[in-house]
Amino acid sequence: MDIRKLVKKQVSALRAYDAKRVPCKIKLDANESPYGFADAAGNMAGIRTNRYPDPEARHLRHLLAKDLGVNPEGLLFGNGSDELIYYLITTFGGPVSYPVPTFSMYGIISHTLCEKKIEVPLDKDFDLDVDGFLKALRKEKPKLIFLSSPNNPTGNCFSTDRILKIIEASRGIVIVDEAYQPFSSEKGMLPLLKDYRNLVIMRTLSKIGLAALRLGFMLADPEIIREVNKVRLPFNVNSFSQAVAVAALKKKKEFRASIKAIVTERERLFEEMMKIESVTTFPSEANFILFRVEDPDYVYASLLKKGILVRNIKNVVPGCLRVTVGTPKENTAFLKALNEITRS
Ligand SMILES: Cc1ncc(COP(=O)(O)O)c(C=O)c1O
Repeated sequence: MDIRKLVKKQVSALRAYDAKRVPCKIKLDANESPYGFADAAGNMAGIRTNRYPDPEARHLRHLLAKDLGVNPEGLLFGNGSDELIYYLITTFGGPVSYPVPTFSMYGIISHTLCEKKIEVPLDKDFDLDVDGFLKALRKEKPKLIFLSSPNNPTGNCFSTDRILKIIEASRGIVIVDEAYQPFSSEKGMLPLLKDYRNLVIMRTLSKIGLAALRLGFMLADPEIIREVNKVRLPFNVNSFSQAVAVAALKKKKEFRASIKAIVTERERLFEEMMKIESVTTFPSEANFILFRVEDPDYVYASLLKKGILVRNIKNVVPGCLRVTVGTPKENTAFLKALNEITRS
């Protein structure tokens, strides 16, 4: 039997998401935090392993809603925000629009779900091309627009007035993906959530030290949440993740300290990288830095030879690599290696 012939055409044409584990000493490729919350994972004794998790994640929902000052009815969890992207596209369908370059999952999931993609290139400063979006809105009437701000992989926040112009002109839903908001000097869209019924804000615990939990969440008008909740798989967030998140979210001081340490190191990395003549370094409001080199394959391979793994994104942004901010020691090792490689 030829299994490939049974597979849907759209899926057959796909390649599985390549999250391969590359052996390395210093892992700076996936925008994770170098600081974990191992002690929050300690107290699992109370979990009844024979029971399904709380499908509504009530304890966690109320805790987080209180922290963020939002209505718990306006909050929905996903097994990572990746899953919420899936749910949003499943619920509303396409066309799905987003700027490029940006986070790859908006396009991958749209493709998987056979929805039309409308890609609008960013301008030369990596900001939103409002006219491009307005044209796309008129012509294609996208049901969903995904805006990652700060944007992965460019690192910048989009201008708030441009985001608002797109929200105001859109007859569909605009999702502002704030995965990297904790590292940004800007407030983000949360204070504006109540003013726009078609605004959804997406966040994740993955970038702030809890990537292992796979916990993302979206904030929106409860009517949107109720619709998306219809396609959510019943027990999508497991009991262990819920319990660890509840314990970790109480450690506010530790969260603040780890975020501050990452931002301080990001600024140091940026300043030091700017000193290297053959490297173009782009400012960042996230926990990673985009940089352009003359030969990205050579720099990537040479860093890896020294045990340092970064992300080669030359196919997404020509000539570019992306480095995640690590611990001070890791960053120092990266800077030393990058200097040696690019100055030789
Ligand atoms: C912009 C953006 N959104 C969402 C995600 C996915 O986050 P999660 O781990 O919650 O699925 C990422 C991960 O890299 C990201 O860069």
